[in-house]
Amino acid sequence: MRTTVGIIGGGPAGLLLARLLHNAGVESVVLERRDRAYVERRQRAGILEQATVDALREAGAGERLDREGMPHDGIELRFGRRAHRIDFPALTGGRSVMVYAQTEVVKDLTALQLAEGGPLLFEAEVTGIDGADTGSPVVRFRHEGRERTLTCDYVVGCDGFHGVARDAVPESVRTVYERTYPYSWLGILADAPPVYDELIYAHSERGFALASMRSPSVSRLYLQVPNGTDPGDWSDARVWDELDARFATDDAPGWKLARGRITSKAVLPMRSHVTEPMRHGRVFLAGDAAHIVPPTGAKGLNLAAADVIVLARALTAWQETGSTGLLDSYSDTCLRRVWRAEHFSYFMTTTLHTDQAQSAFETRLQLAQLERVATSPHAAAELAENYTGLPLPR
Ligand code: APR
Ligand code: PHB
Repeated sequence: MRTTVGIIGGGPAGLLLARLLHNAGVESVVLERRDRAYVERRQRAGILEQATVDALREAGAGERLDREGMPHDGIELRFGRRAHRIDFPALTGGRSVMVYAQTEVVKDLTALQLAEGGPLLFEAEVTGIDGADTGSPVVRFRHEGRERTLTCDYVVGCDGFHGVARDAVPESVRTVYERTYPYSWLGILADAPPVYDELIYAHSERGFALASMRSPSVSRLYLQVPNGTDPGDWSDARVWDELDARFATDDAPGWKLARGRITSKAVLPMRSHVTEPMRHGRVFLAGDAAHIVPPTGAKGLNLAAADVIVLARALTAWQETGSTGLLDSYSDTCLRRVWRAEHFSYFMTTTLHTDQAQSAFETRLQLAQLERVATSPHAAAELAENYTGLPLPR
């Protein structure tokens, strides 16, 4: 096989890139290791920044998003048994976010790609990339029991944190920045109506908790748990009791979540990771393949979208004019945004989680910081600007 842009991975990064390239008249092929049902069922993030929503709409993938997505104008912070609202539009000059699950974005983009776009092969596992620094890199993959190759002008690794594309950047030129955290999230999905209008981020001495949603009848909830926790140790009743204990506030005495059938329960590790540069020769990295953030700031999916928006523009300019200027600046352009999001995600994570090993002094510092956000419009605006997302580079 031969194509202009070989895309490894059919997650949100790979699918949005393929769609943007298709709209610009640039040919591509997407190779995805898993089957379609698996990719469409995988539970992931749920918050879209304004810029991500705009990009999906412009790409022609906004129809169901506009019908079923839930616009949110703020979040609630709970700490010290009080509740504080962060008003996004008031603090950012009108910006807000949309609650629409990553799985739904993936379903929409997959359907569009299969109906209108170039080839999207499922159960096509990439095993390696040859000739990254030659004029025509070759992607090796297994499909329907055969070893095959895809020869490309450019290859983009959108294959997530456990993918193979990162290895195309030789260790001699690669720098990895990493941090792990001493806690994980237990994430649940429940057939229970969210009894809150906006997401609630709760700091408590029992640990962090987050209340999110998937629809007016489905709640998405998270509890901070120690690393290595077995979800089997968390009965449904224990999950609900612990959530209620962590969300308890004197501003709404007796406040409780609506309970319902828990349909999914999984433990998610937390990590910060950046691989630099996000390019070697004719191989580019985008999304989780190049960087990971802990989910507390809801940045992962949005960073992936920003990467491929910048990259689609650069590949389109190259096809139209032969100029590689935007391709050459891709890594630096993306990394500026990536590091801002790394910092914000680290800030949200370390401010809201209570590590069993932390001292009372550190807990008081967290509370002082949260108090600052709750009482200073400047501090609140800093949070709101980062949460709703900085404008995309032009
Ligand atoms: N060959 C083909 N496909 C692969 C390979 C491989 N060797 N390795 C991984 N993949 C596929 C995975 O099956 C997955 O569908 O690449 C895809 C990567 O998708 P994501 O992990 O969703 O990463 P990305 O598209 O960058 O989206 C980032 O995902 O993890 C969340 O929080 C993160 O929301 C963010 C988003
Ligand atoms: C989610 O809805 O899955 C979600 C929302 C906000 C986050 C993380 C995850 O910060």
